[in-house]
Amino acid sequence: MMTIASTQQNKPKLISLFSGCGGLDLGFIKAGFEVVWANDFDSDAQAIHELNIGKIDKRDILTVHEDDIPDGDILTAGFPCQPFSNAGSRKGVYDSRGMLYKECLRIIKCKMPKVFVFENVKGLLSTKYIDGRNLVDVLLDDLATIGDIGYNVVYRLLNASDYEVPQNRQRVFFVGIRKDYHLEFQFPEKIKKNNLTLEHILNISADVPNQTDWALSPQALDMVEYIPEGGSWKDIPYEHLAPRFKKIRDDMKKYRSPNFYRRFSRKEICGTMTASAQPENCGILHPVHNRRFTIREAARIQSFPDDFIFIDDCQKNIIAMYKVIGNAVPVNLAYNIAKAIMEQVFEDK
Ligand SMILES: C[S@@+](CC[C@H](N)C(=O)[O-])C[C@H]1O[C@@H](n2cnc3c(N)ncnc32)[C@H](O)[C@@H]1O
Repeated sequence: MMTIASTQQNKPKLISLFSGCGGLDLGFIKAGFEVVWANDFDSDAQAIHELNIGKIDKRDILTVHEDDIPDGDILTAGFPCQPFSNAGSRKGVYDSRGMLYKECLRIIKCKMPKVFVFENVKGLLSTKYIDGRNLVDVLLDDLATIGDIGYNVVYRLLNASDYEVPQNRQRVFFVGIRKDYHLEFQFPEKIKKNNLTLEHILNISADVPNQTDWALSPQALDMVEYIPEGGSWKDIPYEHLAPRFKKIRDDMKKYRSPNFYRRFSRKEICGTMTASAQPENCGILHPVHNRRFTIREAARIQSFPDDFIFIDDCQKNIIAMYKVIGNAVPVNLAYNIAKAIMEQVFEDK
C-alpha cells in the first residue's frame, strides 16, 4: 500500500486547534510530528504552551481566517468538551460552545490535511444535533464528503490507562484519513498496565518543580480527615458532612449514590483529573496526606514529563494550572495514537 511519506523528507506538519497547554501536541511531537501552528484563546493555556511547546496564535478561533493558518499534513482538535461533558449542563449543541466543531470542519475543508484527529469526552457519543440526529452521525456524514474528497473516519472510546497513562480517563477519538489514500486507521492495541498505580508516581524528588498544591477549603478539610486511603465521602460520619452532602446522604436513591471525595489508594490507578480539581468530581485527593495532589503529581497522573513546566507563583496561577492540566489529553495517550498514525500513514512500509 502506498503511504504518504514515500516522498517526504521532513517531519509531517501539524496544525493544532484548541491546543490548551499542549498535552496532545507534546504526544505528537514525541512521535515525530512538527507543530507548525497552534491556537488557543485562554491566557493560562497560552503561557504554558509557549513555555514548553512554542509559539501560539492567541485569537478566538472564530476570528481566524483560514488563510492565516499554514498548510499541514495533520490537524488535531480537542474542541471544548464542557457542552458535552456528563458533569456539565448537557445542553449539547444548543450551547454555543458545542458549535465549535464547525470551526474544525471549516478549517479542514480549506486545508484538506491528510489526517485529522478529534478528541472529546464520552458524552459526545450521546449528544443530539439540533435536528434530533446523533451529533456523531452528523459529523461522520459531513466528514465523509468534505471538500469533495472526504475522509475515511473511525472513532473509538479509549481509556487512557490502556495506553501507559496512570489514570482511568475515558475519551473518544476520531481519526480520519483523506480518502485518496485508501487507508482506514487501526487504533493501537491496548498496552499492559505496568506500574500505573499511584504508588509508582507519587515518590517525587525535592528538586522537581511545581510541588505546590491548592489548599482545600476548611470545610473540605474537615471532611477529608475522615476519609481513609481508598475511601470516599461515604466514610464521613453524618454529623461531619457539609449541609449540601447531608441532603444527598438523606436521599441517596434520588441522587443515584454519587461517589464524591474519592480518595484512591496507592494500590489503585487514579480516577480522572478534571479542570475544576474539586474533590466532588474527580480523584484529586492524595491517598495519605489531607490535601489535593500537587501540580506536579496531577501532571504526572496526566503523564506529563517532569521537565514540562507549570507556573505556580501565586494562588491564581496555581488554580489555573489544575485547569490546564485537567483539560489536557494525557501525553502518553496522545503519543500512542500519534505513533500509530505515523506508522500507518506517514512512514515508508
Ligand atoms: C479541552 S481543552 C484542549 C486541551 C488540549 N488538547 C491539550 O491536550 O492540552 C480545550 C481548549 O479550547 C480552548 N478554546 C475554547 N474555545 C476556544 C475558541 N473559541 N478559540 C480558541 N480556543 C478556544 C480552551 O481555552 C481550552 O484550552
